[in-house]
Amino acid sequence: MTLKEQPKIELHLHLEGAAPPAFIRGLAAEKREDISGIFDEGGGYAWRDFRHFLRVYEAATSVLRSPEDYRRLTLAVLEESAAHGVIYSETFLSPDFCGGRDVTAWRDYLAAIEDAAAEAEAKMGITLRAIITPIRHFGPEKSRDVAICAAETAGRFVTGFGIAGDEMICEPKDFAWAFDCAREAGLGLTAHAGEWRGPQHIRDTLAALAPSRIGHGVRAIEDLALVDELAERGTVLEVCPGSNISLGIYRDWRKHPIGQLYDRGVKVTVSTDDPPFFHTTMTREWDRLADAFDWDQGVFDTLNRTALDAAFCDRDTKEKLAKRLEPRA
Ligand code: ADE
Ligand code: ZN
Repeated sequence: MTLKEQPKIELHLHLEGAAPPAFIRGLAAEKREDISGIFDEGGGYAWRDFRHFLRVYEAATSVLRSPEDYRRLTLAVLEESAAHGVIYSETFLSPDFCGGRDVTAWRDYLAAIEDAAAEAEAKMGITLRAIITPIRHFGPEKSRDVAICAAETAGRFVTGFGIAGDEMICEPKDFAWAFDCAREAGLGLTAHAGEWRGPQHIRDTLAALAPSRIGHGVRAIEDLALVDELAERGTVLEVCPGSNISLGIYRDWRKHPIGQLYDRGVKVTVSTDDPPFFHTTMTREWDRLADAFDWDQGVFDTLNRTALDAAFCDRDTKEKLAKRLEPRA
């Protein structure tokens, strides 16, 4: 079996961030909107730095304006993931973009996304679950409405709650109400932290929001006591090395801390974050990691098992997926 065909579990993927640029260009053309400024000559997304990336992301997302647009987006994204062996994916979804935080509109978007996920599961064998996510730089007040949308729709498909966006804006405690609301609704919790800010931000996130998983978390490496604490607590890191390198947080794959975090006993997993923005895929992530850290099949099996254990889906789904991860004779 080729690296590309090997079954993979991915926990950290932004649905809009995974939109193939050709898909967004096509949608813009259908709506007669000119967003050509967000593409480079090769047709890929053009961005300069993290803040600009967030602006380009939101400009691309601006052409997604109906449940039907999201149904088509979900199918396009899952087709790409499945082509790289992904059998289970958790995607961040934002009611900010899907219906402007109105619960009734949100239910319509969600129904369309879930419908596409069911179609992809039947046709391509990939299972999708959703992590509902306020955007940090839209502010704490909006995060409350997002949490209400999440709590109202928690269930088999909506299984998690998170937070993304500009990490430099607001403090973790500003989002405690939203996280408490999501926790009470039975949702699994994750939070982006330690991507742009250092170890203290990870500590503050754990104290204020108590997530079982951290999105990125890689800058924990700057404080080995925190690394050991993460290992002891069993906090799972959703590491996206290609994203970190593309955004300039680390110079190259060998300099990326995932190897050290793994060796020190932290539960790391691997994801793509926003694959077309960072010119990556799950196959490329595995390939570069194998090369940089001499990781063999045994390590990738461990990463898959860690990810499946930490997944926010129900036990039945996990058991079915576990069977598909077993090596075939
Ligand atoms: N939204 C999409 N990608 C993100 C990232 N890498 N960090 C924070 N928010 C994001
Ligand atoms: Zn992310």
